[in-house]
Amino acid sequence: MKANLVLLPGDGVGPEIVAEAAKVLKAVATRFGHDFEMTEHPVGGAAHDLCGDCLPDATLTACKAADAILLGAVGGPKWDTLPPEKRPERRALLTLRSELGLFANLRPAKVWDALKGASPLKDEIVARGIDILIVRELTGGAYFGEKGRSADRTSAYDVTPYSTHEIERVARIAFDAARRRHGRAVASRPPKVTSVDKANVLETSRLWRETVTALHAAEYADVELEHMYIDNAAMQLVRDPARFDVILTENMFGDILSDEASQITGSIGMLPSASLGAAQGGLYEPIHGSAPDIAGKGIANPLATILSAALMLRHAFGLASEADAVEQAVSDVLASGVRTADITSPSGASSAVSTSEMGDAIQAALSGL
Ligand code: IPM
Ligand code: MN
Repeated sequence: MKANLVLLPGDGVGPEIVAEAAKVLKAVATRFGHDFEMTEHPVGGAAHDLCGDCLPDATLTACKAADAILLGAVGGPKWDTLPPEKRPERRALLTLRSELGLFANLRPAKVWDALKGASPLKDEIVARGIDILIVRELTGGAYFGEKGRSADRTSAYDVTPYSTHEIERVARIAFDAARRRHGRAVASRPPKVTSVDKANVLETSRLWRETVTALHAAEYADVELEHMYIDNAAMQLVRDPARFDVILTENMFGDILSDEASQITGSIGMLPSASLGAAQGGLYEPIHGSAPDIAGKGIANPLATILSAALMLRHAFGLASEADAVEQAVSDVLASGVRTADITSPSGASSAVSTSEMGDAIQAALSGL
């Protein structure tokens, strides 16, 4: 197939990791006979330095016209002093998410066989299996609600609005994903969605719970549904992660739980994400940030971005064999002991490979070299 991909390297380690994912996409195109046209556009602090805007019009226009987008990371200390609405996080990332209507963020968190020892959890907990899909609502809640300060600037607010429409459409994504995973990742148990809220305190959470319950009864009775408070979910995630299959939650809770989930799998450097909407193919990015402390050193782990490219192949283009091949290559390379610095300890490997050496290893595995 032919596809037009926009690459947004961004800031910090972004350019280094996106370059490796592009290498892997080229290897996929060669092996499977596809034509991926990849065009880079500036975003984030890098774009601000170029033209004074973290999301230049030309970048947004290219993203809207693209079949799918691969993003590295945005932000860093250099741009922390910009006014809030101009900062890379708000101006670039949040605007992209809302302008492209990317309301559902899929964040799969699983323990790779070769990295079992990297989890900070006890072996017996890891042995029960960790394979979770977090479905995070991405264009609502406190991130996008009205915000402000009092005239004397001593009080502030961020409104957390949610509508039944917003809740229903993301809940549908979670229930559908749970059905799809049944027979694949978690074949041994019925599909299950844990909807996470704070319905004992928040009105938006009460609406969330009512809406998810009604949709479940009407359309998804074959999927098991449980509700859980966010504080309890944060605890259960480290106490017994095997109890989770799909977690459905609102924007801010999902942001927090996905960082926690990443850590129990070993390294945040391994977790990909897919941001999907009703229209185009979506935006794919690692869940980690720009990691300014290691930027430019060539030591960042590119696997979260490479696995994000695999999610792109699967969700944007329906290329399941291609996505499987990338994930298999990652699994094989890890099994052979190749490690970037963030994941060296479990293998006892004394030396870590660089960002580009990891990309080369994946590319070689894909090309059957
Ligand atoms: C993420 C990030 C972003 C978020 C930040 C950078 C705005 O933490 O994608 O998880 O909070 O959504
Ligand atoms: Mn986050």
